Amino acid sequence: MLPAMGRAPAFEGMGEMKAGIFVAAALVATFTAVQASDLPDYLAPLMKDVVAPQAQALWDAGNKGTDDEGNPDASKLDEKDWRSLLAAARTVKEAATSLAGPARVIVGPPGMKLQDQDAPGAASAIAVQGYIDKEPKAFTENARALASVADLFIKAAETRDAALLADASDKMDGICETCHSRFWYPQ
Ligand code: HEC
Repeated sequence: MLPAMGRAPAFEGMGEMKAGIFVAAALVATFTAVQASDLPDYLAPLMKDVVAPQAQALWDAGNKGTDDEGNPDASKLDEKDWRSLLAAARTVKEAATSLAGPARVIVGPPGMKLQDQDAPGAASAIAVQGYIDKEPKAFTENARALASVADLFIKAAETRDAALLADASDKMDGICETCHSRFWYPQ
């Protein structure tokens, strides 16, 4: 469990404290349940609404956890930062795992357009679906790579390891890029 969850100031009455813990526990339960069932069914909203913002939170934490010379420095991150990092990493892991599963990955509902797909040279949802269907195993491997780097973030958060966090941040960049260059805008 999260160590700081439900911690109440000493002067609070026992009743209030219990109520506080109960509310915190209920929130955690609700949050977990919503997360597990709330991932979009399609790739495009999963990327846009889940992977991209959560990955950004991971990169931001990685940047915050460095000193003025850019070296990893755990003292720059407080408990709240580590907890948010852990939550974001778990969400990315969950999203990546869902993409690595046996089910065919579908880019979007029929007729859906990708953002900017009308721009010159941009791939349509149908084109991307074709790239994925042609090499589903390679897609799965790329999704697994994202799940693995999410594990590194989880470990970094659990052990408060800023060096591992920096390492994971660097690695994740390449993992997004590798999959995109093969399945989104292949040459
Ligand atoms: C397993 C392959 C794979 C990985 C790994 C992956 N992506 Fe994607 N992503 C795609 C594909 C394919 C598209 C193009 C189709 C689409 O828009 O969903 C895409 C699209 C996107 C989009 C545009 C979504 C939209 O419709 O506007 C964003 C943003 C994005 N990815 C962010 C990321 C980030 C950040 C990472 C790394 C943390 C990442 N992706 C990792 C496959 C991947």
